[in-house]
Amino acid sequence: MKPFTLSTFVLAVIFTACQSNNSSENTVAESSVNEIKPQLTVESTNEISTHKSNAELLMEKSDCYTCHSIGTKLIGPSFNEISKKYENKKDNVNQLVDKIINGGSGVWGEVPMQAHSQLSKEDATEMVNFILSIE
Ligand code: HEC
Repeated sequence: MKPFTLSTFVLAVIFTACQSNNSSENTVAESSVNEIKPQLTVESTNEISTHKSNAELLMEKSDCYTCHSIGTKLIGPSFNEISKKYENKKDNVNQLVDKIINGGSGVWGEVPMQAHSQLSKEDATEMVNFILSIE
């Protein structure tokens, strides 16, 4: 007898709730659909744009990948090797930022990296942080 009484009670509650909402039901359903849709669009766009970090995009726009790649030595050392050599510490970051902006040679060999004097310190710092975060 008990489950029957309970479910009758639940049904009665649902029925009453529906009844009292009945007049606004359509509007509620429509507005929640409208609310959800744009949210989903925003979330998926975010996912795409955070997929590549700002640093990676900056490096693609610049010339870094002409001489560097993540895992293979090209004209310059691979970013993997650079990341292994330097701990991600403030001093190292500053040193590498200066090196990218001013260019130089002698650390990895005789071939110089040319200067990137048009690069801002902020952008170069993002690049270095990205390079040193590579495992
Ligand atoms: C013309 C080729 C070339 C380009 C373009 C280039 N690099 Fe280099 N890069 C080198 C070479 C060669 C070295 C090694 C220099 C040395 O031995 O001191 C180097 C070294 C480095 C180092 C390590 C520096 C050190 O002292 O250990 C970093 C970090 C780096 N490059 C980042 C970049 C970034 C970021 C860019 C794009 C903005 C870039 N490079 C563009 C050739 C290049």
